[in-house]
Amino acid sequence: MKKIIIAMDGHSSCGKSTMAKALAKAIGYTYIDTGAMYRAVTLYAMRRGFIGENGIDEESLRREMPQIKITFGHENGMQYTILNGENVERQIRGMEVSGNVSPISAIGFVREAMVSLQREMGRQGAVIMDGRDIGTTVFPNAELKIFVTASDEIRAQRRFDELKAKGENPVFEDVLKNVRERDYIDSHRAVSPLRKADDAIVLDNSHMTIDEQNKWLMDQYLAKTSE
Ligand code: DC
Repeated sequence: MKKIIIAMDGHSSCGKSTMAKALAKAIGYTYIDTGAMYRAVTLYAMRRGFIGENGIDEESLRREMPQIKITFGHENGMQYTILNGENVERQIRGMEVSGNVSPISAIGFVREAMVSLQREMGRQGAVIMDGRDIGTTVFPNAELKIFVTASDEIRAQRRFDELKAKGENPVFEDVLKNVRERDYIDSHRAVSPLRKADDAIVLDNSHMTIDEQNKWLMDQYLAKTSE
């Protein structure tokens, strides 16, 4: 069967990664979580003290960009994010990184570095890449493009449940505010804002079960590869 690139874009916490991972596993493709890459850069900037009350010290971050190495590791079928040799999967999912990641991912030189790394990772095809600008910027020629969305309350509830399951103690209103703020910043930034590619297929999964959305995605993949 033809090996293609699948671009999965959409809003924060809409369940893209759950669907993308399930499909990758079923068809033996590599799953690449580009949000994790922006989160890892954010964690790096936070640790180095580049994010302060008065904003981001972009010059220092720019200088250190070449030292930021991001890769993925695998253990028991689970993927985790590695920042300069350290497994940072847990740290990058917390509320602190979530609160800082949108402004970091709006910086042009950060995006340039991540996009070129993502193109390199997807070069050989057979990948499902999950993000915001995959179908518009990273792989505008991807054979299959999906744009996923769901209502903001439903997305906040999913994020809230996820954080609780990880042992955090979130406040629903804070999670909802974070989801809305990220939507706003992600879709209004100057460099490759979140938007649906003209040729992307839209999925609103507000009222779908995980099984239903997985089946829907599998059907899209089968339709595309049997063309
Ligand atoms: O998918 P996520 O919620 O883990 O992504 C974290 C942030 O990274 C999100 O607020 C927007 C940004 N992002 C981006 O700008 N471009 C991507 N391709 C992926 C994520």
